[in-house]
Amino acid sequence: MGAEERAQVEDVFRSGGVLSRHGFDERRNGCFKVRDFEEAFAARMGVAHALAVTSGTAALRVALAALQIGPGDEVVTQSFTFVATVEAIIESGATPVCAEIDDTLNIDVDDLRRRITSRTRAVIVVHMLGTPARLREVLSVCEEKGVAVIEDTAWGCGGSLDGRPMGTWGCIGTFSFDYAKTMTTGEGGMVVFSGEAEWRRATAWHDHGHENNPHVPRWEDTRSASGFNFRMMELQAAVGLAQLEKLSRVVASQVANRDRLWDAIRDVPGVTPRGVPDGSSETADALVFFVEDQEQARRCRESLLAVGVSTKILPEAVSWHFAGAWTHMPKLVEAHGGSLSGEFPRSRALLERAVSLPVTVEMDDRLPALVLHALSEALEVPSPDADCRG
Ligand SMILES: Cc1ncc(COP(=O)(O)O)c(C=O)c1O
Repeated sequence: MGAEERAQVEDVFRSGGVLSRHGFDERRNGCFKVRDFEEAFAARMGVAHALAVTSGTAALRVALAALQIGPGDEVVTQSFTFVATVEAIIESGATPVCAEIDDTLNIDVDDLRRRITSRTRAVIVVHMLGTPARLREVLSVCEEKGVAVIEDTAWGCGGSLDGRPMGTWGCIGTFSFDYAKTMTTGEGGMVVFSGEAEWRRATAWHDHGHENNPHVPRWEDTRSASGFNFRMMELQAAVGLAQLEKLSRVVASQVANRDRLWDAIRDVPGVTPRGVPDGSSETADALVFFVEDQEQARRCRESLLAVGVSTKILPEAVSWHFAGAWTHMPKLVEAHGGSLSGEFPRSRALLERAVSLPVTVEMDDRLPALVLHALSEALEVPSPDADCRG
């Protein structure tokens, strides 16, 4: 955050202070930040259409509405994701079904294939912690089965697979700009579309059904279906325009810092990397690796915390990110036979021995040595002599 975001926000007030994306044309002096943000984001992602919304959770809900998914339909997603992915499915009236993950910590394609039934309308594939899912294989299964692909790209903004941005492989991609994400508008989200019809439906649905008919004033606007309100406001979009300009630089710094951390620890016995599909450009929001078992993972976490390095969400802090813990969601529990306790054994086994370190845009040069020292201690392997207490 800096002068660029502040200048964009000031521009809204200088131009008349209209905070709504629609209307008040005589007062806004041509200032349309949400519209500009959508156009700039679509251009950055190489898609025809983008729709700005109030959050990444709203983006998922809008995506499902655009595909007219509702009661009686099933939507498959993965066991390791943020609770929002399943919440959006439940809110749409559809039944959520979760699949196992593989060593990428994203959806396991064989298990996905098994979970698709005649009622499945869509799959929400998630690029957890900025690493692409096996998109080529997911798309191939979904094409064969006639199921739509939505990409939950909350963590993948600015990354790609085979040079194609994450979020633009499926028919719809969703993004989150909450304050913890690679680019942020405080709260906010974006939906991108490959199809014009879905974009039009989503645009109306996120705005009470408004069709924005150019031949009538907004209060007489035409409508053909009901909707809801998930409109982004001008100030969020102003910040988003400035953040989008910085996205490539932010991702490049995260990748460089993640690589410096990984280079420091890659040879520690017992440490193995997360699976990454060939052709991936990750956003590197986190450095994720595996150790041998849960006990070791816990020791790594304690040892890192003791020197002031937080581990992000794995292994114990996974409760908001693992479907096996969501007994508060009756629809999910029911879809999985009435109990989640024995569900997703392979996902559990992977997550239990995964460690995730946060990666920042600016990193203290002493951090790689500090992390190496803490891990060596936790895994009881000799550590190179380093002045780790700074
Ligand atoms: C995978 C995933 N999907 C969706 C969301 C929801 O985004 P938001 O916080 O903008 O509603 C998040 C947020 O962390 C997320 O991690």
